[in-house]
Amino acid sequence: MTTHWILGPGAIGRLLAHSLAPLVDVAVIGRLALPSRQVLTTPEGDVRVQHLTSLTAEQLVADTPAPPAFVHITTKAMAAEAALSSIASALPPSTPLVLWQNGFYAQPRITQTWPGPVLCATTTQGAYLTGDDGVVHAGRGPTFVGDLDNQHAGLAASLAVLLSEAGLTASEVNDIRSRLWQKLAVNAAINPLVALHGVRNGELRGDAYSGRVVAVVREVAAILAKEGVVPPNGGEGEAAWLELVWQVVENTANNKASMLQDVEAKRLTERGAILGPLIERAERHGLRCEVLKGLDRELAQVEVGF
Ligand code: PAF
Repeated sequence: MTTHWILGPGAIGRLLAHSLAPLVDVAVIGRLALPSRQVLTTPEGDVRVQHLTSLTAEQLVADTPAPPAFVHITTKAMAAEAALSSIASALPPSTPLVLWQNGFYAQPRITQTWPGPVLCATTTQGAYLTGDDGVVHAGRGPTFVGDLDNQHAGLAASLAVLLSEAGLTASEVNDIRSRLWQKLAVNAAINPLVALHGVRNGELRGDAYSGRVVAVVREVAAILAKEGVVPPNGGEGEAAWLELVWQVVENTANNKASMLQDVEAKRLTERGAILGPLIERAERHGLRCEVLKGLDRELAQVEVGF
């Protein structure tokens, strides 16, 4: 049996571990080891108990384990590089990595520095944690896998087959870069506003916020046009981006976005991986992005209190 290491025991990491465990050997690696008995609640409400191998990075490195077939990094975006460093001494440099982060921060940095193949995955699976032994699989959605340089299509395809067999429908794609930016665009339009105002996604449709959503999308659309990221769903420019954002707001109206959950839990947000790359690209292309910069400043101010 091949072995998959899952670095980062958050909601997606644990969903992955539960799903893959019947098919491959799985080890979940975190700052603290989880209880071995782990419970998954499926979207249909079924409860499944599994005993998963869980250990800290220090334990893993000290164990000198056999090399894994894949290392999935499922930490928050800003923590991915440090997490990888913590186990790098136990990994042959040719080990394939799979990056599951939001935004477009960890992906280019790790792709440039890791000698082996680096796949990126973007998913719309919904999951949340219930304590250190439970995860709820709240909603199903597709996962797309590819690499930024389109050099590892075969590896991405084999991973997509395995994920699909594990019940997490996945496809190999040759445009993962655009897909990561598309998700980033949606996250930039929704997450900072709901996090700053403590509202659920659907409230963005109201008069108090809808104008600010439009203002964010205007800046994002201009930046992504310069970056050569095609607008979604075959549409054109700002209107296509706005349509996608309102569609996601509608579909997730009752959600507490991940960034709002971070702020409520007094955790540092993913602003650096979502707003950061947009602001950096805007500056590179000589575009103004006062709305994005304002949101970033406001979030930074909130984080000072954590
Ligand atoms: O970050 C999130 O919470 C989600 O990506 C999204 C789409 C904004 C829905 O809440």
